[in-house]
Amino acid sequence: MKTQPRHVAIIMDGNGRWARTRGLQRYEGHAQGARAVRDTVETAARLGIEYLTLYAFSVANWQRPRVEVEALMRLLARFAKQERAELRSLGIRVGVIGSLEDLPSTTRHAVEDLIRYTSTGDRMTLSLALSYGGRQDMVEAARALAAQVHAGLLLPEEIDEERLRAQMSTHRLPDVDLLIRTGGEARVSDFLLFEAAYAELLFTPVMWPEFRPEHLLEAIDTYRGKERRFGLTSEQVQAGAVDAAGLSAFDPKDHLPAPQLLDRARAS
Ligand code: FPP
Repeated sequence: MKTQPRHVAIIMDGNGRWARTRGLQRYEGHAQGARAVRDTVETAARLGIEYLTLYAFSVANWQRPRVEVEALMRLLARFAKQERAELRSLGIRVGVIGSLEDLPSTTRHAVEDLIRYTSTGDRMTLSLALSYGGRQDMVEAARALAAQVHAGLLLPEEIDEERLRAQMSTHRLPDVDLLIRTGGEARVSDFLLFEAAYAELLFTPVMWPEFRPEHLLEAIDTYRGKERRFGLTSEQVQAGAVDAAGLSAFDPKDHLPAPQLLDRARAS
């Protein structure tokens, strides 16, 4: 299937190493990384990517040295203030996955303001993963469903992927098509564990501060060359089963879960 990815997610790794190899402080790597964020967001929007999700701060990142955490929070607040006009003019709507309420108030308010200011954007949804953890998101969703069961609003057997998905902070996003990780490591580090179940994974040695529009273009080109089978055989895909199931046309608004689509594909 040589279509454009609808949802691209990026693990922006390598800021610290990039800085250290230049004799700089780690936060300077993050500052340079913020510039790469700006360029990548703009390129993705111009390429027609509908959803871009960036791993900006994980739940585990709270364990980093305080000065680094503070520098990252300041950078995020600055990004939110400085880029909001440009983001709005590009038609980019910003959202957050994870726990915005965990952030210090100055950063939280700047991000909330950015969300409000860009809320009419209809070209691309930029999701910032902030205080985000894939496992934590699933645990919280399970807890919310358990509370509904406890209150007699839901039967355990009514719990399915659709209902679980609806409770996660990613519920407005379609599944990830392409997951890119910079910085040379090949792991997913608790990022979008549920949503990237069928994503193409692309690991690049490029350190995040050096990630340029051409790297994104290259990644998308590689993606276009892949055959996504969603558990089907190559022959079924060639025969159009995946297209017929409309997997790439998943509409997050009606939360249609992938298994139903696969059932439809198998029945065809
Ligand atoms: C991982 O690199 C990166 C982060 C933990 C933070 C990512 C933040 C930015 C790119 C800048 C701010 C974000 C926005 C949205 C404006 P690392 O520090 O773990 O790198 P290392 O593996 O080389 O140490």
